[in-house]
Amino acid sequence: METIFSGIQPSGTITLGNYIGALKQFVELQNEYNCYFCIVDQHAITVPQDRIELRKNIRSLAALYLAVGLDPKKATLFIQSEVPAHAQAGWMMQCIAYIGELERMTQFKDKSTGKEAVTASLLTYPPLMAADILLYNADLVPVGEDQKQHMELTRDLAERFNKKYGDVLTIPGVRIPEVGARIMSLQEPTKKMSKSDPNKKAFITPLDDPKQIEKKIKSAVTDSEGIVKFDKVNKPGISNLLTIYSILDKKTIPEIEEMYEGKGYGDFKGDLADVVVNVLKPIQEKYYNLLDSSELDQILDEGAARANEVASKTLKKMENAMGLGRKRR
Ligand code: AQP
Repeated sequence: METIFSGIQPSGTITLGNYIGALKQFVELQNEYNCYFCIVDQHAITVPQDRIELRKNIRSLAALYLAVGLDPKKATLFIQSEVPAHAQAGWMMQCIAYIGELERMTQFKDKSTGKEAVTASLLTYPPLMAADILLYNADLVPVGEDQKQHMELTRDLAERFNKKYGDVLTIPGVRIPEVGARIMSLQEPTKKMSKSDPNKKAFITPLDDPKQIEKKIKSAVTDSEGIVKFDKVNKPGISNLLTIYSILDKKTIPEIEEMYEGKGYGDFKGDLADVVVNVLKPIQEKYYNLLDSSELDQILDEGAARANEVASKTLKKMENAMGLGRKRR
């Protein structure tokens, strides 16, 4: 069985974008691959976090992973900071990465431009992401389109490491979904939907109640044409809503366009709100049952133990290859 690694930052409650671009895919993949899914809390602290909120978000994300259908018997779910090899291998990756290539990362540019104080970690987080993936010898990494550049860097760093120190690391492939790889903001449909967007109307979270969902979809920015038609360039708002509808209701975009021929955006948005509410209802029920349970802690403890076992083996190989410490098996 091939191995998959993927992570999500607990930098807020995840959005429908994270669900469609990442979590939903993970659930589909757990039957075919040996999966490691990580709550990357060390990535979240590259920007300021409130410690109480961060702890809450970590637990909430763990419960959401399971609520959407992740099966801990099939996949390993764990918290990054509970597996020390990540930070250790992350440092090694930083030591082979060049500042120039890190400065070219668009996420770094987006998150640092105009900021008075930019942390060093915001620049060096891609090498940590590379370490996350490489520690598990991942063959494949399922991500949204926004992570494509970081994945290219991961592959470059792994190849560079192998060239310098011997064939130690597996070069991972990338899996980007054909539809839904980039769900856009409801308020600025040319910008990706992000959980850290200060405008809460810009995103839906899987924990929003039906009223909030309806309100957010009804106030989603569209255009004045009034025709439900997919046209990413001229109608980014409606195209984004059509993408969400199509994925969550398992209908093709032409099918949906046909359903709303001659109807206005009001009908379309109202029905889309129902579709979203219906998909999220069972997820929310499961989530609230799990959130404060000891079962959740047990799953995370077992996940950390399994992840530690695999990650520390790769770490030892990397240390031996680089000549760190004393030779160990
Ligand atoms: N809008 C999106 N559409 C599709 N996929 C998305 N992903 C993120 N946003 C979208 C995918 O979700 C996974 C986890 O992402 P992350 O939380 O590690 O970091 P991110 O990509 O930076 O996500 P956010 O929501 O934008 O977080 P913040 O606001 O904290 O930066 C990844 O697979 C990503 O591709």
